[in-house]
Amino acid sequence: MKSTQLKELVLQSLEHERGGVLIYQTALKCVTNNELRVEWERYLEQTKTHVTALERVCRTLNIDPEERTPGCKVVRHTGQALVEAMKMALADGNGEAAQLVATDCVALAEMKDHSDWQILGKCISELSGNAATTLKEAYDRIEEEEDEHLYHGKGWGRELWLQSLGLDAVLPPPEEVANVKSAFGAAKAEKESEATRRH
Ligand SMILES: [Fe+2]
Ligand SMILES: [Fe+2]
Repeated sequence: MKSTQLKELVLQSLEHERGGVLIYQTALKCVTNNELRVEWERYLEQTKTHVTALERVCRTLNIDPEERTPGCKVVRHTGQALVEAMKMALADGNGEAAQLVATDCVALAEMKDHSDWQILGKCISELSGNAATTLKEAYDRIEEEEDEHLYHGKGWGRELWLQSLGLDAVLPPPEEVANVKSAFGAAKAEKESEATRRH
């Protein structure tokens, strides 16, 4: 494994988690659905622990967690753009629209978050000693949280959009009710909800 590229992955993942904290803080200003608010408050707290976990991983790999590579600057820019998008929607004063923008922004951010951890997981077997243990401990706890962030977030976005269209919406979304933690589970929950919707 190329150690320079591992460093890049760890630092970009850390930058993205730091951006994630800001994204959830801003999304919480846009949310109007109470169940979604509770969910996002929990995800915000989890995301803060992802930041500290990656800072710990940095130290075991002798990486300075404050180093910002050109790739990190791009990641930061993308995160800030999502925060800006939500602020624009908030300024417009339409609460329902702002919440929809926030669900889109969260889903976009969680897509990268999820794949960062998926790829970090693939690096564990290439490491040894303290670095391997620290990354594995973090991965074992966080990977499942990232599954939830991604699949539940996607469900909320879809159902709130359907509700806004005046169409049948399942709230809380089926991914939430079934506590989905995989792509297979998400597809199954979505399919089952189609049957509910037609009745
Ligand atoms: Fe995360
Ligand atoms: Fe996440």
